[in-house]
Amino acid sequence: MDNAAPDGWLDVCPSDALVDGGDGVRFEVSGGVSAFAVRFEGRVRAFLNQCAHVPVELDWQPGRFFDDSGRYLICATHGATYQPEDGRCVAGPCRGRSLTILMCEERGARVRVRVSEVPAP
Ligand code: FES
Repeated sequence: MDNAAPDGWLDVCPSDALVDGGDGVRFEVSGGVSAFAVRFEGRVRAFLNQCAHVPVELDWQPGRFFDDSGRYLICATHGATYQPEDGRCVAGPCRGRSLTILMCEERGARVRVRVSEVPAP
């Protein structure tokens, strides 16, 4: 969180860097923990980059969080499939568990994430 503003919000990227169902943007929260932001159905969503199955990062190729359909987030390791709306795993080895969701918003054509209250994974 060292690079966050005093109000606890971290400026992540320009809004137009996130295309619906396209590549995500990686960033770090407190303690160097990896996180990412994507856009789905027009809205930005942000999560810790840690699979609910085994605590590894989801993206084998940096930024590739969506499956080929652009409808679900997928872990490259064993294929856990998550709903981008809320991070819930709907298929794969950790079905019923969830990614850790982060509060985020768009303001002034920038994406920002609240990193002062990151929940434990
Ligand atoms: S580590 Fe993500 S599905 Fe197994």
